[in-house]
Amino acid sequence: MPASVHPLSAAAVAVDQPILVFDSGIGGLTVLREARVLIPERRFVYVADDAAFPYGGWAEADLRAHLVRLFGRLLREHAPLLCIVACNTAFTVAGAALRAAYPDMRFVGTVPAIKPAAERTRSGLVSVLATPGTVRREYTRGLIRSFAARCQVRLVGSPRLAALAEAYVRGENVPDDAIRAEIAPCFVETASARTDIVVLGCTHYPFLANVFRRLAPWPVDWLDPAEAIARRARSLVPRIEQALHPDAADEARLTAGPADFATRRLMNSFGLRVS
Ligand code: DGL
Repeated sequence: MPASVHPLSAAAVAVDQPILVFDSGIGGLTVLREARVLIPERRFVYVADDAAFPYGGWAEADLRAHLVRLFGRLLREHAPLLCIVACNTAFTVAGAALRAAYPDMRFVGTVPAIKPAAERTRSGLVSVLATPGTVRREYTRGLIRSFAARCQVRLVGSPRLAALAEAYVRGENVPDDAIRAEIAPCFVETASARTDIVVLGCTHYPFLANVFRRLAPWPVDWLDPAEAIARRARSLVPRIEQALHPDAADEARLTAGPADFATRRLMNSFGLRVS
């Protein structure tokens, strides 16, 4: 059992250590939302690496090196209890490198929910909607080989959806046609079956789930892993009966520096102080 999966012992945990939730942008907020419900007694620091967004188009080795370097700084600055890497594109390329570089830190990762999709599908046709980086990864191909060998899995790498989700959440106008074009390849129809599950393989996409439902050519399950990730984090963090930080505002940090108005408003609407 790798060190990263051992639950933390209560004795080893300082009461004010935060949980760090990380993404390239706003996508990790979909995971933070669930994590706060399940771990209400802990302080959270949300880090958006907006200086490097989007991760989807980065070369693998460059992104891995960037993430290992960046986490070195984040771990020093925040001394977190646990890190939730709420980004498929980051974790599928750098999860192992992060665990190797920082063996004392617990990393909870995010990977496309291919296993639950394969267990749930009735038609056997499953699509994975993710960034171009995530669909290219050997990690993702390995998940399909290990857990979905009996399904027909279509990998759909969307070059634009993460940025469209960022715009949508900030209240900008995002035309339906732009979204329809990105999700269209997910819908596969054969003589006897059609896609019944689409895995949301990028944490930005749950923000668009209602739009996806409205624009889908037929109803499917859109699988969002946020709650499962939060449950995993909960299982590693010792329970503390009394809330330790009743008044403390959780905070957001942006690697690009001062947030613009829309970003600040968004982070504040999630109860995050932007520093
Ligand atoms: N939210 C990230 C993910 O889960 C990716 C967005 C990006 O391209 O940076 O994959």
